[in-house]
Formats: sequence, structure tokens, C-alpha cells
Amino acid sequence: MIPPACRFAPAVAPVVVEDETRRLWFDYDSRRAFVVRVLLKAEDADGDDTDLKSFQKKGKVAGEWFQKHPDELGLGITGIELSEDAELLSKSYDPALISAAGQQLFPLYPTLAEAQLPGHAKTILRSELVELDRLWRNVDLVSFTNESGETERAAFKYYTEMARGQSHLGEHKLLLHLPPHPNLLRYTRTVLDENSGRVVGLCTEYFPGRDLTTAPIIFKLSWLEQLMRLVDELNLTAGIAHSDIRPANLMVDETTDTFKLLDFGHSRHIGGLSDNMEAGRPQLVDVQAVVVAVYTIITQQKSLSTGVDECNERAIQSFEAEIPSWDWRQHKDTKLDHPVSEYQRVLSDWVATRQKMADAKHTCTGCDNSGSEDGQNPWAATWERPATKHLVPGVVMLANGKPADGVPQAGTPTVESPLRDVGRGSV
Ligand SMILES: Nc1ncnc2c1ncn2[C@@H]1O[C@H](COP(=O)(O)OP(=O)(O)O)[C@@H](O)[C@H]1O
Ligand SMILES: [Mg+2]
Repeated sequence: MIPPACRFAPAVAPVVVEDETRRLWFDYDSRRAFVVRVLLKAEDADGDDTDLKSFQKKGKVAGEWFQKHPDELGLGITGIELSEDAELLSKSYDPALISAAGQQLFPLYPTLAEAQLPGHAKTILRSELVELDRLWRNVDLVSFTNESGETERAAFKYYTEMARGQSHLGEHKLLLHLPPHPNLLRYTRTVLDENSGRVVGLCTEYFPGRDLTTAPIIFKLSWLEQLMRLVDELNLTAGIAHSDIRPANLMVDETTDTFKLLDFGHSRHIGGLSDNMEAGRPQLVDVQAVVVAVYTIITQQKSLSTGVDECNERAIQSFEAEIPSWDWRQHKDTKLDHPVSEYQRVLSDWVATRQKMADAKHTCTGCDNSGSEDGQNPWAATWERPATKHLVPGVVMLANGKPADGVPQAGTPTVESPLRDVGRGSV
């Protein structure tokens, strides 16, 4: 099940509907979208919707409402109006709302040729994947039958928002390009929409571990050492900066003593990192992120936990000097197999070594992180599916949101709605 706190989220960018800036919210469980309008008291009809404070306030109000009423919006509802006190004022059933927002936000999926994936990419249709669980926003646990006739489990990662298209394709290509590595998720399939044949996502081997954000956290020194070696290989051999190393993207499985770094959605060629990162020395972006991640895991102090951007602003020299001065007190819910001082020492030695190497020249052999978005592609995929609450035990669901036999079975709540035919229909 998608963690309830993650089930709803606003689109990255606001949309303009009827000449007014509004927000589109996604329900990642039912994979439906809603146009949300929040009416703030202080704001008159011509209120400045782009004002950052009111924008944030509206986001908070909508977030609160969705958390309290996760299953209140029936099929066919395309928009809601909320008061500042998170009261539902009205519902809209107008499909044009979603089609207007959708044209601005829903992805234009590339064809296989446009995606320019390496020749060894193996494809599978979304309708050939059986949904077993919903792990995260746009990540499902699925199974499929492989060439040997065996049932294989996989994590199916897809995207339903245009703004994520580039990073998704970049990750897809990179996982295909990188040689197999015990600390990386193994690519297994490129997933195509069954109607248009366009690329909607990818499968990786299912890793039955847990990430390093939720207590109790166990973090072995050997996992840190594996992470440092992996980052060296990525940075120095492949010329790639992961650029999003943080506890949420580190997974461990204690039973098999395995550790994985996932989520290459922000990865970049080191040589191609933007100019404003130069001051932070792009070769060391991941090194800094590892230090901050380990500090966060050990202490559970969020204050130092930074996004990569904030991290990049610090010069590595002062960063290294600061490491011992931080408060490294181990949190009661974090279990380590060595004293904290050992983790600190290993990190400091590594930072010093990487610092010395920082001026070395690296050849980029990684993939091109750019994709084609010419705006000409037709809509290519529908995603809607019944919310978890409406799933019927025994009814097998496919990754395309439909029951396995192709038609809803007796007792299965109907999933048809006006949304299906509007805005995404002209495949
Ligand atoms: N191969 C996998 N096996 C198990 N869980 C996975 C796998 N891939 C992703 N996940 C789960 O989905 C979450 C989000 O995946 P991630 O690649 O980080 O996507 P995002 O770009 O949305 O952050 C992970 O934190 C993990 O819980
Ligand atoms: Mg992630």
C-alpha cells in the first residue's frame, strides 16, 4: 500500500484553468487527478494567486483536506473548491477542467524510437504486468512471466506528470547502460502502453528491503563502505553524479545483508552539471550528500539534512573541516554495528581522498540524459484504477489499472468515468 502520507500530492507546476492559476492534485492510489481551487479569506476575486505565501497556504489546505478525506471523491469528479478552513465548498463534474489541466501537465510519452534506448532493452506491455501491491507514488510491485516461463517479481516505476518525463527517461537509459552491480537495482523491462506502444515506464528487480528513513534504522559500517565504493565507481569510472543521495533512496535488506542505492532520476554527467554548481565542485556532490545522509541516519537530526542544492553551496573544504564539529550523537532508534567515531573516521578519510582527486579528469561514458519532448505526441496512456479500498479480493489487477480478464467482474466497482474519454482519449 502507498504510505497514506504520500498518497496525495500536488503537481509540480500549477495550471491555468479559466484564466486562473489553480493546482492539480494527484491521487496516486486511484491514479486520478483533481483540479483544486482554494479560496483564501483575505484574497478578493482578483487576488494575487502567484504570491508565494498564499500559494503555500493553499497547498497546505488542500493537503490537509485530502489526508482527512482520502476516499470522498467519487468517480467523475474532476475538481473541488475548498475554503481556507479546509471545508469542501463545491465539487465539479466538468471533464473540461481535467482536459485543460491535462494538456499542460500530462506526459507525452515517447515512442521506442524517440526514447533512443539501447538495443538490449527488453520490452513488455503494461497489460502483461500483474499488480501485486502499490509501493509508492508511481511505483508498483508487479509480476510477469519471463522467457523461461517463470513468474518474476519487479518494481514497475512510471510517470504520470510531464515534468517528470526527462528525469524518468534519463534514469531508464542509465540503468540500461550501467554494468550490473550488486548495490544497484537490476533493470528488467521497458514497459510500453498496450494501446499506443509508447514507453511509459521501466521495471527493476524487486528488492524486498526498506529505506533508511523510518525507525528503527539499522546501518552497518559495511553498507557505508559499499556506498562509498559505489559512489567512487559512478563518479570516477562512469563519470556520473547520482545527485540525489539521501536516506529515502538508500534501501537495505537485513535478512540478506544487502544494500542498494536507487532512484537515478536526478543523475547527471559530472561534466554536464550546471554552472552554478561549479563553486560546490560537481565531482564531490555525491560525496557531500553521503556525509549528510549518514549524519542524518545516525543522529536523526533533520536540521543538517539538506537537499542536494543546499549541499552544493558549501565548498567541500569547509565541509570536511566541519564534519567533526557536528553533534554526532547517535539517536536511540538507530542501530550501528560500530562506534559512531568509526563511521566518522571512515567518512573523513574518504572525503580527504576524494578531495585530492577532485581535479582529475573523467571521461563520461554514461548515457545522454536528454529525451525528446517535441510536444507533438498524442496522449498515450490512461492510468485510472480503483482505489485500494475498492479492490475486490480474488480479482487480479493488471498494471494498466484493469482487471486481468479485461472487463470488470461482478462485484468489482466500475472504474469507468468521464475522465477516460476526455483529455487523454485521442490515442
Ligand atoms: N526495485 C524496487 N524494489 C523495491 N522497492 C522499490 C523499488 N524501486 C522503488 N521502490 C520503492 O519506491 C520508492 C520510490 O522509488 P524511487 O526510485 O526513489 O522513486 P522516486 O523518484 O519517486 O523517489 C522507494 O523508496 C522504494 O520504497
Ligand atoms: Mg526516491
